[in-house]
Amino acid sequence: MQYVNDTIERLAQSGQHQLADYVTKVTPDSAKEMIIDQIKNIDFDSLAIMIDKYVLNFEDSKIPSSIEPAKYYSLDGKGPTGEWDGAKYKALGEEIIRASKVACFTVAGGQGSRLGYEGPKGCFPTSCVQNKPLFEIFAHSIIGSQKKYNAIIPWYIMTSPLNHDATVQFFGEHDYFGLDSNNVKFFQQGVMPSIDAKSGQILLSDPVHVATNPDGHGGAYQALLVSGALSDMQHRGIEHMSYFQVDNPHAMVVDPTFIGLHAHAPDSSGEFSSKIVAKSSWDEKVGVFCNVDGRTEIIEYSDLSEDLAKQLNSENRLAFNAGSIAIHIISTRFINKIVSDPDYALPFHRANKKVSHFDLSTGLGVIPEENNAVKLEKFVFDGIPLASNSIIVETDRVEEFAPVKNQTGADSIESSRLIQTERAARWLEAVGVSIPRDQDGNVEATIEISPLSATCVEDLKSCDLPASIESGTTVII
Ligand code: UD1
Repeated sequence: MQYVNDTIERLAQSGQHQLADYVTKVTPDSAKEMIIDQIKNIDFDSLAIMIDKYVLNFEDSKIPSSIEPAKYYSLDGKGPTGEWDGAKYKALGEEIIRASKVACFTVAGGQGSRLGYEGPKGCFPTSCVQNKPLFEIFAHSIIGSQKKYNAIIPWYIMTSPLNHDATVQFFGEHDYFGLDSNNVKFFQQGVMPSIDAKSGQILLSDPVHVATNPDGHGGAYQALLVSGALSDMQHRGIEHMSYFQVDNPHAMVVDPTFIGLHAHAPDSSGEFSSKIVAKSSWDEKVGVFCNVDGRTEIIEYSDLSEDLAKQLNSENRLAFNAGSIAIHIISTRFINKIVSDPDYALPFHRANKKVSHFDLSTGLGVIPEENNAVKLEKFVFDGIPLASNSIIVETDRVEEFAPVKNQTGADSIESSRLIQTERAARWLEAVGVSIPRDQDGNVEATIEISPLSATCVEDLKSCDLPASIESGTTVII
């Protein structure tokens, strides 16, 4: 078949000799076609350049010398252009939500290997009393917000080939957690071939399958376009996407103040806005917002030098303290701008990984003990410098950041549940419920507030609440 021979030739021309030889010889023809079908759409010229740059001759990206801490709208009411009026922007944001112009967008295509959980991360039991999975927590927050604003808030969920079917099935089995299934849209991000770190050759995972990895959440731009999700949003009149990661049960699915600032603040182009918390320590694993040549950027934790991470400002606080919690508002207009720009190309980031594979020369399966492969990923936040004016808003860590990433220690289910109970306790205290605390201030109970009951303190005012919570008890509101 001509296309098979053409693809083999393109493979060889781009330096992928091992795979080209293997496919030429492999029998039967159906095996040959199966492999070719997986790679025929790869742009081999670009792949060869990428492999050269990120695998064979990789140099760590240099931190620009003109880097400064980014300015942001802080919790104490100060903004980059002076004092800011939270109530005004909240009201403006509420108007936008009520007009059904906001959708939720969750990136849920990652592998979740650090958590050591087999299924899609969104299925992980997370709430502190009822063990609700992350997807259910978000679904109930969306239902709560839809009721509050009398609006439809569609939810777009980006999966990857690794977890798409399992994710869709999970929603089906749980009747979409009470959401209208017409307003929940799944779409898949793309993949990249995994590359042998020494030779730069594409790896096969078995005799007939190319080893691939999801192309990073930066694959969202293209995936939103090609899946039809972007046009579905436009058809519905959606103007802004409330973006959050699947790992954070405290993400506010829609935050009116943030949306109001994004759309109306004088220094915002209404394209791509972000939330931050003050970093808890210099080595906390969060990306840091910086200003480079007048443009806002996130420098990922793995790329920030120790010197910069430890630098102190005149108030003796971390100079680069604006930690990304991966919550953004991104406008559909911005996505359109990016994907229709002929020069649009987000950089790739390199991750060294252990990838089990089929050795083409010996015909044996290999389970590596050391990192043997390079995964190439794009990051959604590399789009930020392409926005004309991107703003950053500070939020309270307990209120909006309780991530579940690791099996133990920081950002684990244990630490997340403590933060979940702390937030619930604060909300209840704010409406007069007495909470048992030890002398260090730790809550001596386990408390879960369902987002169907309240998505913020104000909502609790109309709930039937106890006057106090007993020490050692488990409470669901
Ligand atoms: C991420 C951010 C970091 C931020 C921190 C806050 C990146 C690269 N870094 O770190 O700047 O401070 O969260 O919690 O994102 N995902 C996909 N497809 C992929 C890869 C990932 O959808 O191909 C999704 C995951 O499902 C997850 C999210 O992206 O929801 C984050 O991915 P992860 O690689 O775990 O990032 P972190 O290291 O936690």
